[in-house]
Amino acid sequence: MDKQKVIITRPIPEAGIKMLRENGFEVIVSKHDRPIEREELLSAVKGSNAILSILTDKIDEEVFSAAGPNLKIVANYAVGYDNIDLSAAKKHNVAVTNTPDVLTETVAEHTFALILAIAHRVAEGDRFTRAGKYHGWGPMMLLGNDVSRKTLGVVGLGRIGSRVAYHAVNGFGMKVLYYDIKRNEAFEKESGAAFREKAEDVLKEGDFISIHVPLLETTRHLVNKDKFKLMKKGAYLINTSRGPVVDEAALAWALKNGIIRGAALDVFEEEPKVHPDLVGLENVILTPHIASATEETRGKMSEVAAVNIIAALEGKIPPNRISI
Ligand code: GLV
Ligand code: GLV
Repeated sequence: MDKQKVIITRPIPEAGIKMLRENGFEVIVSKHDRPIEREELLSAVKGSNAILSILTDKIDEEVFSAAGPNLKIVANYAVGYDNIDLSAAKKHNVAVTNTPDVLTETVAEHTFALILAIAHRVAEGDRFTRAGKYHGWGPMMLLGNDVSRKTLGVVGLGRIGSRVAYHAVNGFGMKVLYYDIKRNEAFEKESGAAFREKAEDVLKEGDFISIHVPLLETTRHLVNKDKFKLMKKGAYLINTSRGPVVDEAALAWALKNGIIRGAALDVFEEEPKVHPDLVGLENVILTPHIASATEETRGKMSEVAAVNIIAALEGKIPPNRISI
């Protein structure tokens, strides 16, 4: 019997690739460390049994059709899976999996790195020093804001949102408010976090607002111009979820006009593009979608994707199957 064929659309850490090879699969890894081009993808997946995709690959009807009837699984190398058309996957009877849990702490750390960096003007101060503008200590120079004991508003209390809230409470004595489609009373008990029934109420009351919802039709532009108008003048917005959850043009407007104080983004509406108005602003931090990018976590993500593929190709239910 021919070996089952696994396509990996971009080089990833070796651990998972090794597991797949040791399981006897034929593993084909894209040779290019750049997003695979559409034509390359459509031809590579032909006749494959599994696809290990990354979040910049659009996996839609055309890809499922190109792959053909032997495709059993698309294992996305990410916790988010808005790049995959789940109804097309279902139609073709293909399992879809993601890599939750292993990246929760890492993304929560990056979120906190951004919270601290924007409040303490770390990136701006670094630019200032490098530009030769530091001419001596100044009592009024580059004043930021404290984080301790302020109010953090968490929009989306999933794994990552609740880990960010945990750090806020335990590390910085912050008060936490959250909005989610599901109330979590156990979490409220252990953390002292308070539930708000509307995202608006979290936006209104928070000194720092951190977004942790998946990208869905209902969360697209969840934070728009009207929402910025509700926020405190001194508030900071942090987004490590998906770019389109925030209307970037409205954010640039809010930052330029002092509607809010600052923002820190790891994700953008049309990656890898960044809204040109944001690039010129000092009160925004822009990191290139690296919130899960540690050596430890990216290695674990490759193992999780491999475990899912191995299960699916052995005819079992993969542990991180996304059910719709
Ligand atoms: C990264 O954005 C992920 O979804 O894992
Ligand atoms: C992501 O998995 C989250 O639960 O926040």
